[in-house]
Amino acid sequence: MQILSDAPADLAQAAKLLQDGRIVAVPTETVYGLAADAFNPRACRAIFTAKARPSSDPLIVHIADLGELKRVAQPNEPARTLAEAFWPGPLTLVLRKLPAVPDIVTAKLHTVAVRCPRHPVMQKLLQTSGLCLAAPSANPFGYVSPTTAQHVIDSMGASIDAVIDGGPCPIGVESTILDLSDPRRPALLRSGAITIEALSERLQQPLQDRTREESLHPAAPGQLPSHYSPHTPLSLFPSGAQPEAQHGDAIVYFQPRPDSTGKHVHVLSPSGDLEEAARRLYSLLRELDTRNARHIWVETLPQSGIGIALNDRLRRAASKVS
Ligand code: TXA
Ligand code: MG
Repeated sequence: MQILSDAPADLAQAAKLLQDGRIVAVPTETVYGLAADAFNPRACRAIFTAKARPSSDPLIVHIADLGELKRVAQPNEPARTLAEAFWPGPLTLVLRKLPAVPDIVTAKLHTVAVRCPRHPVMQKLLQTSGLCLAAPSANPFGYVSPTTAQHVIDSMGASIDAVIDGGPCPIGVESTILDLSDPRRPALLRSGAITIEALSERLQQPLQDRTREESLHPAAPGQLPSHYSPHTPLSLFPSGAQPEAQHGDAIVYFQPRPDSTGKHVHVLSPSGDLEEAARRLYSLLRELDTRNARHIWVETLPQSGIGIALNDRLRRAASKVS
C-alpha cells in the first residue's frame, strides 16, 4: 500500500491508480472514504471485498460539483435547492439513478446516493481525475469510521492500494443523508453535521425523520442498529449522571467535570463544544479499543446540532450484540 501526500504529483498518482481501477482511501471533510471509479464495476466490487461489506449495502457517489450530478442521477427541484445551499459539503442526496450507474454501486436500487464533498484534497482529486468516485467510509464493515490516514492504515492497510493523507477530518462524523427520490416526501435517513431543521428551513417544507427506523431492510443500511462499533462493549449514560463503571472501565465525558480526572477518564471537549467532540469521538473510540478496557461508558451528548448525529452513532455502537 502506498501512502500519498496532498502534493500535486501524489494526487496525480492517486488519480492514475483510480483511473486504472484501483481502490484508494481519500480524506473528506466528514470521514475518510475508500474510493473507486463509480463507473468501473470491478473496481467498485473491490471496495466491498476490502471492507467485507454486504453487497446489499449501496455506496455513495462523490462528484466534483453540481454540474456533474447529471452523470449519475435525475436531479429534481428540491435537490437543486439543497445542492446550491449546502454543496460542496456534508450532505448526501438520494435521487433516482441513471441506468449508466452500475448495479454494484446502488445494490440494484433505482436510486443513487450522491454527495459533493468540500475537502480541498478530495475536490482536487475529483477535478484532476475527471471521475465520479464511489466511496463508503474506509473502515471494515461495522467498525468505527476513520478520521485520520493512520486509522485507515491501522484497520485497512493490507487490503487497499493507497491512502492519501489529508490530515484529520475537520467534521469527524458521516454526512447527513436525505432521500429525495420522491421529491414530495423528503426523508432524513441519517443525521450529520447538517441538521433536519436546516434542511427543512431551506426547502420550506417539513421532512420525515426516518433515522430511527430499524426495519430488517432499512432504506439506508447505515441505519442498522449495530454499526459504528468499537470491539470493546460500549454503553451510553445520561448527560450529567454517573456511569455504573467498574474499576478499569473507560469513561468518556462530554466536557470537564470536577471529578473528570484519572487515567481511565476522558473528556471529548475541554471547552464543551459539540463540534470539537465530533472531531475527536471516533479517534478516541479507536484509541480506547487498543487499551483492552472491559467496557467503555460514554456520556450522552446534548441533543442539538451535530450532537444529534453523535448520539445516533453512539446508540448504534452501544447496541452491538456480540
Ligand atoms: O460522510 C460520508 O457520507 C462518508 C464519506 C466517505 O463521504 N461516506 C459514508 O459512506 O459514510 P457509507 O457507505 O459508510 O455510508 C453510506 C450510507 C450507507 O448506510 C448506505 O446504505 C446508504 O448510505 N446509501 C447509499 N446509497 C443509498 C441509496 N440509494 N438509498 C438509501 N441509502 C443509501
Ligand atoms: Mg460507513
